[in-house]
Amino acid sequence: MTDFLVIGIGRMGSIHAKNLYKGRVRGARLTAVCDTDEKALNAFGAAHRGVALYKDYREAVEKSGACAAIIATPHYSHTEIAEYCILHGVNVLSEKPETVTIGEARRMNAVAKAHPEVLYGIMYNQRTNRMYAYAKKLMETGALGELRRVTLIVTDWYRSQFYYDMGGWRASWNGEGGGLLINQCVHQLDILQWLVGLPESLRAVARTVNRNITVENDVAVIMRYPGGATGEFVACGHEPRGTNRLEIAGDKGKIVIDKNKMTYIAYEKSEREINAGVTKGYGSTRVKKKRVSYGCVRKLRDLIYGQQMRVVRRFADVLNGKAKEPTAYGAEGARALEFINAVYLSAYGGKEVTFPVDSGEYDELLGKLKEEEKKHVRNL
Ligand SMILES: NC(=O)c1ccc[n+]([C@@H]2O[C@H](COP(=O)([O-])OP(=O)(O)OC[C@H]3O[C@@H](n4cnc5c(N)ncnc54)[C@H](O)[C@@H]3O)[C@@H](O)[C@H]2O)c1
Repeated sequence: MTDFLVIGIGRMGSIHAKNLYKGRVRGARLTAVCDTDEKALNAFGAAHRGVALYKDYREAVEKSGACAAIIATPHYSHTEIAEYCILHGVNVLSEKPETVTIGEARRMNAVAKAHPEVLYGIMYNQRTNRMYAYAKKLMETGALGELRRVTLIVTDWYRSQFYYDMGGWRASWNGEGGGLLINQCVHQLDILQWLVGLPESLRAVARTVNRNITVENDVAVIMRYPGGATGEFVACGHEPRGTNRLEIAGDKGKIVIDKNKMTYIAYEKSEREINAGVTKGYGSTRVKKKRVSYGCVRKLRDLIYGQQMRVVRRFADVLNGKAKEPTAYGAEGARALEFINAVYLSAYGGKEVTFPVDSGEYDELLGKLKEEEKKHVRNL
């Protein structure tokens, strides 16, 4: 039985804590929670008897006796707390994003690498979606052949002014280091890099549409991948009936994932063979199709307990010797983050950005954006 500590029991952390408390994670139990907000802490304690309460994460890590911690605090604090857990031998599952800047993620990953005895995971729950897992297998076996095109449209994260006016740390450079990309789209961007890797370079435009916020809620990106494939990524948070669609096209086939349905189209002849064999201006081939859906029961369970619980279960299974690997290692968190930093550098610097991203250049940009935001808020 693994004893868990949940650090940050706001919106997300309280879901993790309740799932653990109610015994929904095999081989795990909730023994302690920590939050800087005393009111929230006491309310949680009153409703969940027998759970130790801490206001300071250092004290919680040192005194609770927990073997594992889940971090669900705002992004800027993730790595500071994760590092503290790792240095104290406590296995740690951090909420996404890993942190805010690629420089800090690289520093954190060096700490984690120096402590392989401690498990460091990250909450990329969309990797548990069986359509993405199937797509991952196809990519790993090379079923699609040479990568030709990637298109990702994520316009279904509608967020109203009311959401932003609830205040707090969200949707600001100072509070969370960005907007739509770092908060909402980081999940899809993790999936994108998981399936096709990071691009060689990108060029982006970001803007704020119809909301009184200082960060972006609308982004368009053009990517260039190693090997020459191109990609487009479009995201926004102001489309009432949004789209969530991923297309990966290769020389030998294609994957189309649209919301809860996936189609894998395998070409009988590769595009190279078609092109070499035709003596007319157009060409085609027979195809085989396989359809995969998210699954109604899984969807229902996710609605009740949260898709995130699957990641916590796997994490506990690894600690209890029942699984080999977590859903995602913490260090993998740097990849989607690097993509996001590159988009901001390109959009706000007005230039093409190549990978790996220059962390010093990004820190400088973020510093400026934070300062401008402070002036803007003072002028309101
Ligand atoms: N995996 C997902 O699908 C998913 C969904 C929602 C949120 N999240 C992530 O979870 C994190 C928290 O988001 P939220 O919506 O729950 O935010 P929230 O503001 O509702 O909760 C954060 C909590 O952390 C507490 N806190 C802040 N600093 C602390 C510290 N140093 N030590 C202890 N407690 C501290 C706050 O008092 C608050 O109760 C974010 O990083 C967010 O990206 C992930």
